[in-house]
Amino acid sequence: MQKFIVNGGKKLKGVIEVKGAKNDALVIFAASLLISKPVIVSNVPEIEDTKRLLELIEKMGGKVERIKYGEYKIKANNLKTYLIDPEIAKRIRASILLTAPLLVRLGKVKFPHPGGCVIGERPIDQFLDGYKNMGARVYNKRSLYEIIAPRLKGTEFVFNNITVTGTESLVMAATLAKGRTVLKNCACEPEVKSLADFLNSCGAKITGAGTPYITIVGVDKLRGGVHRTIPDRVEAGSFMILAAATNNKIVIKNCEPGHLDSLLSSLKKAGVNLKVKKNCIEVIPLRLNSVNIKTHEYPGFPTDLQAPFCVLLTQSKGSGLVHETIYEGRLMWTEELKRMGANIHMYDPHRIEIKGPTKLRGREIESPDIRAGMGYLIAALCAKGRSTINNVYQIDRGYEKIEERLRKIGADIKRI
Ligand code: EPU
Repeated sequence: MQKFIVNGGKKLKGVIEVKGAKNDALVIFAASLLISKPVIVSNVPEIEDTKRLLELIEKMGGKVERIKYGEYKIKANNLKTYLIDPEIAKRIRASILLTAPLLVRLGKVKFPHPGGCVIGERPIDQFLDGYKNMGARVYNKRSLYEIIAPRLKGTEFVFNNITVTGTESLVMAATLAKGRTVLKNCACEPEVKSLADFLNSCGAKITGAGTPYITIVGVDKLRGGVHRTIPDRVEAGSFMILAAATNNKIVIKNCEPGHLDSLLSSLKKAGVNLKVKKNCIEVIPLRLNSVNIKTHEYPGFPTDLQAPFCVLLTQSKGSGLVHETIYEGRLMWTEELKRMGANIHMYDPHRIEIKGPTKLRGREIESPDIRAGMGYLIAALCAKGRSTINNVYQIDRGYEKIEERLRKIGADIKRI
């Protein structure tokens, strides 16, 4: 198993470029299964999660061609199975995104409870309720769900919980359903809007994506299309936090500042000077003060940036409260951060208080998931001494060749 060896405390400077968004690429790959004509997706991050989902699509009968680095053509004119490979599906949560296209195209889908995460329970009740509302029958036998629906029909559905992949799945299902669907309490994340823009460019009739109310008028067929993956806001945010936490001036290029309002506001409040341009943000750290953050659905503070921000709080003066509202297991990673020297008190699984500034010390750590892995990496770059980060597969799931890109801005990091 590969690991990173990091010697922390090195001066970082220069420009780092943001790749395409993992969670945008994943949902567009899934949406390409709604269409029998070719779909071309560019600016795809070459990471474990995108590779695994493409592998799964090939297993389902989709033809995947790599046109060039970061650009793929998917043709799904001959889907051959409605069973989502249980072994892969149990490892990738995003496999749930394939359920809607398979249901629409084949009238049936069979899959295990999607796994691959240690951040919380992550139920799928909203997906199942949504499909049932659209006329599907749902069975659960021998740890496999089976959903059957000859043709889905338009409905009105209110999400009990705001879910990004749930919203995306019902949008995909409704696109080719009979009649009109109105979805309420939808996720407003940029990836949902990006999906709707892509599907509309292929002939779908979706309005309101990016707001809590989405209306979809079903069409009979979609044409092939092209999509350029939007910049990864989590990656951009992680780099901004890295600059601030390590007290270095770094320019983050190819990002979309408009997707990062909440982080920009928290960083400014913490004393970070930001020069925001069209697709670029320059981070000029000053003396850091603690702030409180509360994770929230978009446009609130992203749960995917909670771990990096916790590291920033260890380097800030005062006391900062972190309230993780989305996932019940997503603060557990801070136990190891404490062992690196952070002063953290956990009130309950959703709330911690971080007192700073504290000096962090290098350690051997195990990356439990993508975002906590990035948190440890930032902590290791802040820390004095050498850290070993094990299980970097988790970091590779979300960040393309991260060690090479960090080395270019001065980090002392190697993969072994
Ligand atoms: N939820 C339900 N029922 C459902 C679905 C979700 O109660 O049927 C709840 C969950 O328990 C959780 C909340 O809704 O409290 C949102 O969780 P969900 O599992 O739906 O999130 P997701 O849509 O699967 C996406 C991203 C995540 C990101 C979350 C929150 C993708 C592929 N994944 O997940 O990204 O953390 O939204 O913004 O888009 C990551 O990139 O590391 C990652 C985990």
